[in-house]
Amino acid sequence: MDYKQLIADAIHKELSEHLELNEIKLLLEKPKHTDHGDVAFPTFQLAKLFRKNPAQIASELAESISADVIDRKEVVGPYINFFLDKKVVSGAVLKEVIEKKEDFGNHTFGENGKVPIDMSSPNIAKPMSMGHLRSTVIGNALSNILTKVGYSPVRINHLGDWGTQFGKLITAYKKWGSEEDVREEPIKELLRLYVLFHEEAEKDDTLEDEGRAWFRKLEQGNEEAVALWKWFREESLKEFEKVYQRLNIAFDSYNGEAFYNDKMDRVVDLLDEKELLTVDQGAHIVNLDKYDLNPALIKKSDGATLYMTRDLAAALFRKETYDFAQSLYVVGQEQSNHFKQLKAVLKELGFDWADNIHHIPFGLITKDGKKLSTRKGKVVLLEDVLDEATAQALQQIEEKNPDLPNKERVSEQVGVGAVVFHDLKNDRLNNFDFTIEEVVQFEGETGPYVQYTRARALSILRKAGQETFQASDAYQLSDAYSWEVVKLLQEYPDTIKRAYDNFEPSIIAKHAVHLAQAFNKFYANVRVLDEHEEKEARLALVYAITEILKEDLRILGVESPNEM
Ligand code: ARG
Repeated sequence: MDYKQLIADAIHKELSEHLELNEIKLLLEKPKHTDHGDVAFPTFQLAKLFRKNPAQIASELAESISADVIDRKEVVGPYINFFLDKKVVSGAVLKEVIEKKEDFGNHTFGENGKVPIDMSSPNIAKPMSMGHLRSTVIGNALSNILTKVGYSPVRINHLGDWGTQFGKLITAYKKWGSEEDVREEPIKELLRLYVLFHEEAEKDDTLEDEGRAWFRKLEQGNEEAVALWKWFREESLKEFEKVYQRLNIAFDSYNGEAFYNDKMDRVVDLLDEKELLTVDQGAHIVNLDKYDLNPALIKKSDGATLYMTRDLAAALFRKETYDFAQSLYVVGQEQSNHFKQLKAVLKELGFDWADNIHHIPFGLITKDGKKLSTRKGKVVLLEDVLDEATAQALQQIEEKNPDLPNKERVSEQVGVGAVVFHDLKNDRLNNFDFTIEEVVQFEGETGPYVQYTRARALSILRKAGQETFQASDAYQLSDAYSWEVVKLLQEYPDTIKRAYDNFEPSIIAKHAVHLAQAFNKFYANVRVLDEHEEKEARLALVYAITEILKEDLRILGVESPNEM
């Protein structure tokens, strides 16, 4: 039920000659303090119309407004404060949640429009960094949010599987590597070779030339180079896949940078036709002065194409393949300039759909306030982070609930869930410090806290012997604690919409935390299992909470163990 709508209707009945229904709805406010009611209507706007002062208007108008959902009204100065009928609203909200379950909060305005989401996109032969983790989990949550509002997302892993670094890697492998070592621990070994290359290249400049030569061979399709590249790519992907599996994330496409190798000539031709290319010291560039941007580099002086060229080809390919409604790129904010250039070049080419391309930037994960660096071999391996979080979850479970069945499985759900939740609860653009101890806590605003709250709510239902509920508006609640919960449930469709409007999964994470907190307050103050005329309704509320917490967590990509 949308009680704002119902109140707007009631006000509109009295003011239909003066204001549109929608205008009234926009004027409605949510009072900061619950003592001031659930909805407030300010009357300032009416002063001119009625040639009266707002306070007078408020008190006159208040008398004539009535609706089933309104319990009472209070006039405070120019405001009419409405107190809702808790029983009527809770009955309607619980009925809707029980009826719709995980579909509660869904919208249809996306009209099945396709939305490619460029997400994760790690670089082959390097470990997946914490930054790639952010892109992965934010992209995953966004795609769930998009589905919930009616879009049809396409998850694309734009693998960094092409570029001069592969020439360097092949050189290093041929000099110092072995097949056995790469097979054993692909990412670690390839990283070792890559780091070694850079160390040795400081002493010996012929190495850089050799690297370039191997990359040229690769671009020309030299058999040995291509075979090695393919193999490195495969081994790396296998490793990435382990992480994706633990995160429960699947992709619709793995078309990485290499996929666009045969699609770039067309981009260069298009730019040429429109006379957008200029030659600057042998390199081909597109001047973007009128956008206040640096020129976009399309081709190096040696003819090699670049990251930008591949992204242009990818943007075109996505438009042609998916005819997208929007196209998202979940990539760190340090690449903001790149995406501004990408859109600007597409605009120059005359593609108005460039306006539907959105870069979704995010902040850095830091350690003691400093950026984590992948270069120089100083890396935090994602798998190690997940292992550590899982071990800590297991330890906590051993302390709290040693007899829990499936301890291993549950600690994986809790540990991995903790890392994901921690990443998503912060506003996307904030930088944050990562300390594993802080992540896996059963208290505070954490994933385990939400999971634990839900498991506790389920155990209450088990104790009560009632785990399913018929949809009905008979579940009516009148106390102040359940009211706080009911309001959070009622706001859910709006919450989902806001998360979509801002491309902001943290709005969902915060909703989960607030709902869990409101439930714990309710449970501490209301005796749910005691005989009482509202007992059924209280249990129905507990049930509704388990459903919506589960849905919040699902959207974020976090599992909900039934016991923990
Ligand atoms: N591989 C890149 C990196 O790790 C991210 C790619 C993002 N996607 C894109 N279409 N440019 O920095």
